[in-house]
Amino acid sequence: MTSAPLLIGLPEAGWRTYDIERRMHELLAADPSLEVGWPDTLWPVLPDKPLSAARTAMAQFAHLNGFVRPTSLQVIETELLAMVRDLLGIPDEGGLTLTVGGTESNFLAVKGALFRSRERGLGGRPNMVIAATAHPSFDKAAEELGIEVRRIPADAEFRADVAAMSDAIDAQTILLAASTPNYTHGTLDPVEEIAAIADERDIWFHIDACVGGCLLPTLKRITGAPWTTPFQFPGVTSVSADLHKFGFTPTGISTLSVKSADLIRHHSFRISVDDSWPFRPYARTGFTGSRSGAVLAGAWATLVALGQDGYEEIAHSILEGADAFASGIAQIEGIELVAPHECGVIVFTSVDEKVPVDQLASALEAGGWPAMLAVKPDRLQFLLSPLGRPMYESFVAAIATAVERIRAGESIASAGLNTYGG
Ligand SMILES: Cc1ncc(COP(=O)(O)O)c(C=O)c1O
Repeated sequence: MTSAPLLIGLPEAGWRTYDIERRMHELLAADPSLEVGWPDTLWPVLPDKPLSAARTAMAQFAHLNGFVRPTSLQVIETELLAMVRDLLGIPDEGGLTLTVGGTESNFLAVKGALFRSRERGLGGRPNMVIAATAHPSFDKAAEELGIEVRRIPADAEFRADVAAMSDAIDAQTILLAASTPNYTHGTLDPVEEIAAIADERDIWFHIDACVGGCLLPTLKRITGAPWTTPFQFPGVTSVSADLHKFGFTPTGISTLSVKSADLIRHHSFRISVDDSWPFRPYARTGFTGSRSGAVLAGAWATLVALGQDGYEEIAHSILEGADAFASGIAQIEGIELVAPHECGVIVFTSVDEKVPVDQLASALEAGGWPAMLAVKPDRLQFLLSPLGRPMYESFVAAIATAVERIRAGESIASAGLNTYGG
């Protein structure tokens, strides 16, 4: 909170630009700073180069709405789609839709599965079978669309339990989902095995790659690990991948891709004048109406500024950070990684009852470091950013100090900075 009083309504006289800028600087200055960690564990931090490219593009396209597009924005969108196809490895026959976030992308996949099942004449109450670790956006879509959710406990490695998921399928199952990786533990679900079941039973299979979609292909390439793009598995129907997480674009843009472009019909909407809207035919792909021209241009500028080399540099930096983090954690007595690093997410916990994880979160927050507390069981979860090895070494040192302080009996009140969806 800053010293200036909060605005409680529209100012009577509009402010001068100078005063607006001063107020924004003051607000931002009160946020946690990169010098002592990173400001946000929810999204990876944008590196300087794409951030400044995106800022310029957003300022230049701030007046445009992606709903009524002049040629400039049409070109931006066409080129953005082409670049995203490359980045994600979407085949020529596949369809790609830009959305405002992972929640919309997952919603459109669920809607696609539902509408396809209706097209096939499936009656009764539909259900979806997902792992317990799947994102709540699936439940949200299910609530909107009247679908039963069957959440199946994950296995001992926090991956979707394929056999248990298979057992939960019945004639009303319209969707299976996997996460690459899941947000809760950062582990990759066994996509190939679930795809085989989906293929055999002819069920829509959606991969939620909102977190890892833009990172995993590059991570695999630079480490020389075998990599199969999702649509190479016959059973995969759709994939969501957020540009605004490990694509490093400004917030407000994600993608839904489908294995064949004709499936886009399930998330396309059209009303004609004959349907009695007395205006003009109205058609949209995806859920939203207006779209920010600034966000589209910001995403375009990010991808152009980074190029393949930029994404590779980022992936190298994330791997370095993960390595520094994991090896540092291993040296702190009583602290353990919950799972090995797989794709940009690190989760650790305390196995020492004298060091409760919530106290550790409070101690880190009090020092200005990020701490996303996850529960059942308590652990700390982080999305890695390409901040370089020294930053992660400092962070590990801060964790070690916090552990010592708690072990010494200090009680630290929570600064209450980081919550996810609370
Ligand atoms: C795995 C996963 N899927 C979907 C989402 C939803 O994305 P958004 O918040 O962009 O709507 C998230 C967000 O963290 C996520 O981690």
